[in-house]
Amino acid sequence: MDNILRQKLLDWYRRNARALPWRADVSPYNVWLSEIMLQQTRVETVIGYYARFLEALPDVQSLADAPEETCLKLWEGLGYYSRVRNMQKAARIVTSKFGGRLPETKKELLRLPGIGDYTASAIASIAFAEPAVALDGNLLRVFARMTAYEQDARSNEAKELARAFFSPLMNGNAPGDGAERMSETQNGQAFNLPGSVNQALMDLGATVCLANAAPVCELCPWRDDCEARRQGKTEQFPIKTEKKPRPVENRTVLVILRGENIALRRRPRKGLLAGLNELPNTAGILDEAGAVRFAKELGFSPLRVKRLPPAKHVFTHREWHMAGYEIRADELSPFPADCACDEGLRSSVFLADKKEIRERFAVPSAFSAFLSLYL
Ligand code: ADE
Repeated sequence: MDNILRQKLLDWYRRNARALPWRADVSPYNVWLSEIMLQQTRVETVIGYYARFLEALPDVQSLADAPEETCLKLWEGLGYYSRVRNMQKAARIVTSKFGGRLPETKKELLRLPGIGDYTASAIASIAFAEPAVALDGNLLRVFARMTAYEQDARSNEAKELARAFFSPLMNGNAPGDGAERMSETQNGQAFNLPGSVNQALMDLGATVCLANAAPVCELCPWRDDCEARRQGKTEQFPIKTEKKPRPVENRTVLVILRGENIALRRRPRKGLLAGLNELPNTAGILDEAGAVRFAKELGFSPLRVKRLPPAKHVFTHREWHMAGYEIRADELSPFPADCACDEGLRSSVFLADKKEIRERFAVPSAFSAFLSLYL
């Protein structure tokens, strides 16, 4: 049975694999970068970021040597910035302890910062052909439908069962099981058995066994093997118990313009959006007078205030509902924090011109609705 499922999956993958840039060159660094970027982020979004990042920082050494600011700028808009910070930490470990070569086993990869079970399995399978199941939401969904799994598909038990379900598919080497044709390159895409099984399952989950729409069972290589389909219940799986709603936080964001510059503030090194730059903001929804008072507290002399359209940003665990104000500040009155690079003022307000904001300082997307009005 496993041989038949494997064969059907790989035949389907050979015909339908998405041509993705990180599949053309499966060097470990490229696979690592793509898998980190693809955590929580859609393939279409990642493609451009991946190309720009590789162009700027093409290998482990260049990542290890780069200023953190450069890494954050390359990541700007992707979110979950600890991913790139950890990746740089790991790159430094790889250069100092492993001579610049990424370790080749899941077990060793797991010891590096930012590499959890999924990522270690993905890298070990795709770059090093280790038979490790890279269990993400796609695979869990395929498993839940294939077996009509009746419990919460996010539970640890579901994960264990899903690993056990997919694992035999990675170990084929019998003649005729499809595996013997897999250590080669086809249509510019690299294939090896475990890497291809994982990526075939990811593609199946992303293009056929869909998450937020009815699955397209007519296109599925496993349509005759799927228990949920047999029961006519594909849309009832995977079963998810209700999640708690995200808390909503109200905030007020200021775009303070002073001459040609815009005021930014560096966030603290710890917590949400740690160490990134932001538009000055504060808890609660302020009125115009409150916004002016807040700008004064930051050291500015406001001349005019204008309300901006409100905006919303959804993080994984919270939601910001934001009021925004443009404040024109007097450029003749002194502003003491005029020094972006002074370590002593790293958590405070500084001024940057538009070009610097575009090219150098990473500002997370939570502020885009306001900042993009000025860049
Ligand atoms: N999502 C995460 N890793 C992926 C990969 N290698 N290919 C396609 N989608 C993915």
